[in-house]
Amino acid sequence: MSSTRVGFIGLGHISIHAHLPGLRPLVESGDVELSAFCDISEEALAEQAAAFGAKTTYTDHRQMFEQEDLDAVYINLPPTLHTDQVTLAAEKGIHTFVEKPVSLDMAQAASFSQQIEKAGVVSQVGFMSRYYPSAEHVVELLRERTPRHVQISLFYSGKPVRWWTSRYEECGGSFVENTIHMVDLIRYFLGDIADVSAFYMWREPGEGPEMMNMPHVYDVNYRFASGVVGNATTSRVLTDANGAGRREVLIVCDDALIEWSTNKVTVNGETTFEADAKGREAFALQAAAFIEAVKAEDPSRMRSPYGSSLNSLAAVLGANASAERDGQRLALADVEASEVAWNPRHAAGHGTPTLE
Ligand SMILES: NC(=O)c1ccc[n+]([C@@H]2O[C@H](COP(=O)([O-])OP(=O)(O)OC[C@H]3O[C@@H](n4cnc5c(N)ncnc54)[C@H](O)[C@@H]3O)[C@@H](O)[C@H]2O)c1
Repeated sequence: MSSTRVGFIGLGHISIHAHLPGLRPLVESGDVELSAFCDISEEALAEQAAAFGAKTTYTDHRQMFEQEDLDAVYINLPPTLHTDQVTLAAEKGIHTFVEKPVSLDMAQAASFSQQIEKAGVVSQVGFMSRYYPSAEHVVELLRERTPRHVQISLFYSGKPVRWWTSRYEECGGSFVENTIHMVDLIRYFLGDIADVSAFYMWREPGEGPEMMNMPHVYDVNYRFASGVVGNATTSRVLTDANGAGRREVLIVCDDALIEWSTNKVTVNGETTFEADAKGREAFALQAAAFIEAVKAEDPSRMRSPYGSSLNSLAAVLGANASAERDGQRLALADVEASEVAWNPRHAAGHGTPTLE
C-alpha cells in the first residue's frame, strides 16, 4: 500500500514532542510520508524539517494546500489561530487531525464540524487520553457496572508555562486549555454531558505569578445525559509546592470505587491495571489509529471525531459561561447552539490586567 502523504500546520511544542515522534515508526516503515510542514517561523520550519525529514516547507498553509497533494493534515495551532485551515482541508477531501481545544468560539467549531461532515473525511481531535491503555481498562470495568458519580482532580503548578497558555483571551483559561482532556475522558467513560454549573476563583494582583491573567481555581459541576452527576476541580495555586500535584478521576458505582490515573487503575483499593510507561505511547497509538482510518477512509474508526467531540468543547466553554454568570446552570445544548457564550474580556479586573 502506498505511503499516506501527511502535512503539518504548526511546528510547535505538541508537534515536535508528541505527534511527530508518534508518527516516526510509521514513517520508518514507509506507511507515512511527511510531505509538507507549514509554520510562520522559518527557523522552526528549517529545524523541524531537518529533524523529522519533511520533503517541503511552507510559511502559508494556503500555498501548501494548493501545491501539495496531501492525504491527511495535522492542524496543531493555538485555538484562536484557526481560520480557514479546516475549511480548505475539507474542500480538498483531506483527512484532518486537529489539536484541542479546536476553537474558543463554539459557532466556529460547529461550522468546521459541518464542513468535515459534508466532506466525509476522517477527523480526529487530539484527545489522546482516550488512547491510554488505562482508559481502555476503565471502559472494560464499566461494562459490568452502573456508574453514579464521577470526580476529576487536576492540581498543578500555578506558574505560567508560556504566553498564550497564560492568557484567558488566548487559551480560555486552564480549564479549557488543559482540563478539557479529563472532561473528554469522563465523556469516553460515561457519555455526553447535559448541564453545567461552575464557580471560579482568581488571585488578586500581586498574589500570584504575574504573567497569568486567568482564574486560578475552577470548580465545575456536571450532569450527564444518563443522569450521572460529576465534579471537575482544577487548581493552579500550587506555585511553590515542590512539584506536588494530582491528576486523577474517581468513578463511584454501586459496588466499586474506581480510581484512574494515567498509569494505574484501582478498584476498591486493589490495583487492577498498572503500566510502566509515562503515557507517551498514547500519542503513538492515536497516530496509528488515525493513519489506519485514513488508509481505510473510514471516519467511524476514530475515538474522538470532530463532530462528537463538540460536547467536550461545550462542557468547558459552558463552564466559563456559567462562572461568568455566578454559577448559573446552563444546558450544553444551548452552549453548542451558541445561544450562551463566554466573554474573553471577563478576566479584566481580576489578577493581572488583560492586554487592553
Ligand atoms: N494533546 C496534548 O496533550 C497537548 C499538549 C500541548 C498542546 N496541545 C494543543 O496543541 C495546540 C498547539 O499547541 P503548541 O503547544 O504546539 O503551541 P506552540 O505555541 O508551541 O506552537 C504553535 C506553532 O504554530 C505556529 N503558528 C502560529 N501561527 C501559524 C500559522 N498561521 N500557520 C502556521 N503555523 C503557525 C507557531 O509559529 C508555533 O510554531 C494547542 O491547541 C494546544 O492546546 C495539546
